Amino acid sequence: MKTQVCIIGGGPSGLLLSQLLHLQGIDNVVLERQSRDYVLGRIRAGVLEHGFAELMREARCGERMDREGEIHEGFFIAHDGRMDRVDLHRYSGGSSVIVYGQTELTRDLYEARDRMQGTVVHDVQDVQLHDIAGTSPSVSYRKGDERVRVECDFVIGADGFHGVSRKSIPAGVLSEYEKVYPFGWLGVLSRTKPVSPELIYARHERGFALCSLRSQVLSRYYIQVPLSDKVEDWSDEDFWAELRRRVPSEVAGRLLTGPSIEKSIAPLRSFVAEPMRYGSLFLAGDAAHIVPPTGARGLNSAASDIHYLYHAMLGHYRDGDDSGLDGYSAKALARVWKAQRFSWWMTTMLHTFPDSLAYDRKLQDTDLAYLFSSEAAMRSLAENYVGLPF
Ligand code: APR
Ligand code: PHB
Repeated sequence: MKTQVCIIGGGPSGLLLSQLLHLQGIDNVVLERQSRDYVLGRIRAGVLEHGFAELMREARCGERMDREGEIHEGFFIAHDGRMDRVDLHRYSGGSSVIVYGQTELTRDLYEARDRMQGTVVHDVQDVQLHDIAGTSPSVSYRKGDERVRVECDFVIGADGFHGVSRKSIPAGVLSEYEKVYPFGWLGVLSRTKPVSPELIYARHERGFALCSLRSQVLSRYYIQVPLSDKVEDWSDEDFWAELRRRVPSEVAGRLLTGPSIEKSIAPLRSFVAEPMRYGSLFLAGDAAHIVPPTGARGLNSAASDIHYLYHAMLGHYRDGDDSGLDGYSAKALARVWKAQRFSWWMTTMLHTFPDSLAYDRKLQDTDLAYLFSSEAAMRSLAENYVGLPF
């Protein structure tokens, strides 16, 4: 098989880039290890920043997002038994975020790829990258009994944190920066009316909690749990009881509970690999960097990668200008690190750390007190949460 751009990974990053390139007449193929049902069964975060939403519209995939997604102009931080609101709209100069599940967004991207008859190959096994140091790379995979080789100009590694692309870069090239947090988030999805129309991030000595939503009839809640906890340890009743303890009593009093329709634990981790390019391989999204979910930056951190890569590819194919490709890694990383900083800060301010000193807890108190007493601090939070410019 021959194509211009071979994209490894059919998550939001790979699909969005595929769609954008195809609309510009740039031929590409997406290789995805899992089935479509499996990819669409994964429950992930649901907050989109303006820049990501714009890319979805540019990719002609924004219609349902604009119709069904909810615009959120603020959220709450609950602490010390009370709720303080962050007015995103006011402090970001009129911006907001869209609450729209990543699962739905991925479904829209697949449907758009189908409509344009884009090539997305599912259930590929044993993906291998060849000759990525040079200018004639290829990617091979097995599907059933058949082994296929895709020859291309560029390979995009959009295959998530556990993918093969980053691992194909020779040892010694990458610098990897990682911080693993000593806890995870236990998440529950339930077909209940959300306790609050806006998200509530709750700091509590028993541990962090988050009240989020997917729609007015679908709630998503999380509680911080030790890494040693297993999903099986948590009955629905135990989960609801613990969530109630961690939010202000007036919130606990109006929490509607129901059976969980999904329950899972995700560890919290920060990670960046540098550089994001090696020869003709370009990394994007979770393949190159991940953030803890506290600042809702995961998907949004991928958005700027896709934006830069898309324009770099356009420069190359349309204008014969490779400056975008050459500058990709540095430009992408500059924004990636800001999302890292913000996610680390939100995580540190709001979680209970098992080994924290009384001094650390005083600083957490002070961080919150400063935030809600300083317009400058509020502006800083808001501009990061709605997404820094690309
Ligand atoms: N070959 C082919 N596909 C692979 C391989 C492989 N060896 N390894 C992984 N994949 C696929 C995965 O099955 C997955 O569907 O690559 C895809 C990567 O998708 P994501 O993990 O969703 O990563 P990305 O598209 O960058 O999306 C980033 O997802 O995890 C969240 O917080 C993150 O919201 C952010 C978003
Ligand atoms: C979610 O709804 O899953 C969600 C929302 C905000 C976050 C993290 C997760 O910061």
